[in-house]
Amino acid sequence: MNLAVGLPEYRRRRARLMALMGAGSVAFVPSADLSYRNRDVEHPFRQDSDFHYLTGLEEPGCLLALAPGREDGATVLFCQERDERMERYRGEQLGPERAPAALGLDAALPHGELGGALPELLAGRSRVYVALGEHPAFDQQLIESVGALRARAPSGGAAPDEIVALERVLHEQRLFKSPVERRLMRQAADITAAAHLRAMRHCAPGMAEAELEAELRHEFMRRGAPAAAYPPIVAGGANACVMHYTNNDATLRDGDLVLIDAGCEYRCYAADVTRTFPVNGRFSPPQRDLYEVVLAAQRAALAAARPGATFDAPDQAAARVLAEGLIALGIIDGDVDQALEDKAHEPFTIHRCSHWLGMDVHDVGAYRIDGAWRALQPGMALTIEPGLYFPDDPANPVPPPWRGMGIRIEDDIVIGKAAGSGAGDAAIHILSAAVPKAIDDIEALMNG
Ligand code: GLY
Ligand code: MN
Ligand code: MN
Repeated sequence: MNLAVGLPEYRRRRARLMALMGAGSVAFVPSADLSYRNRDVEHPFRQDSDFHYLTGLEEPGCLLALAPGREDGATVLFCQERDERMERYRGEQLGPERAPAALGLDAALPHGELGGALPELLAGRSRVYVALGEHPAFDQQLIESVGALRARAPSGGAAPDEIVALERVLHEQRLFKSPVERRLMRQAADITAAAHLRAMRHCAPGMAEAELEAELRHEFMRRGAPAAAYPPIVAGGANACVMHYTNNDATLRDGDLVLIDAGCEYRCYAADVTRTFPVNGRFSPPQRDLYEVVLAAQRAALAAARPGATFDAPDQAAARVLAEGLIALGIIDGDVDQALEDKAHEPFTIHRCSHWLGMDVHDVGAYRIDGAWRALQPGMALTIEPGLYFPDDPANPVPPPWRGMGIRIEDDIVIGKAAGSGAGDAAIHILSAAVPKAIDDIEALMNG
């Protein structure tokens, strides 16, 4: 069995989580289950990100229990027993006999023994960490076990009396990427960059959007990333104004722009990159004018993303440049401060400029603490992705050259240490910098 990263990384993650949970607690983390497309045909299996983060195991029908200080072992896996007939269909399984050594765990049991083992895992523990609602069948099992323990101990001493959202600790931990995770995210971004370059080189008027999607997926797969992190968006012309356009079934027209938002998933880590470029390889003057506004906004947002800045600082920086651009192009009126206050730009910008990025493309972790935007800190990974969109909308009309245009530029970054705090430190690391975004660089690539 090949783990995505070495055992010490998973050990460190489990140890850190258990330290945050504290003594007298237990956590339960179920794996993902198989889901079916129809009858006996499965959807491609994707492990639950929390379970993968803590074990690296890519099998369904499992559960990890973490019980700090437990005498018979603090880390216990429940997994599927090996079954010769199943293995003929699905390939080799790990099985409880081999799991402790393969995964660096204290013990492993067949999943069928979970119900019987729960009372012992719960007894004497006051706090249970679990993501209630995510795995209803397990929730039911857990509630029954807690109830049975309570019934046996009327004094309440032996049964847990606190159920805590596991996300509160685990997702805060996942928000800060370790050096190993940052390497995987860089690999995901490198593969994604190669795919975007391939799509730019292959693009020509008359092609189907799906042909560019095929070029992207070709590059993902041949470089070891079998899945996209989300359905790729290849949107020619006005299709770029549909935020989650994934039909990718229109023809790319001479004179239009095409927006590609695509990222691979590499060993369970996502990239999320957008570029917008001319189908025929040359920006027209109106396309150029609008593109320069979005590019300037993206650069302003990158400059605002610094350790210590708040999460919304890049968004605010981008919004100001976008509003200034919309005023300069005559699309909205007046003074920039007033326009921002009136949110006059928002019909054309639609979405925020950033989200966390990691194992999930819209990754876990709180954006606010006690109601206020949190500060960006070293190890956090996020996207920087301003855009402008002009659908043919009678409620928000725009002059003809821009009608039906949509432009977004999206990079993936990791917050570094403050510039100047030591040799080699950078305020941010742009993982997707290899994909050109300046007009001259895009045109040179497409016509080279
Ligand atoms: N591809 C989804 C996003 O950019 O958030
Ligand atoms: Mn995206
Ligand atoms: Mn994104």
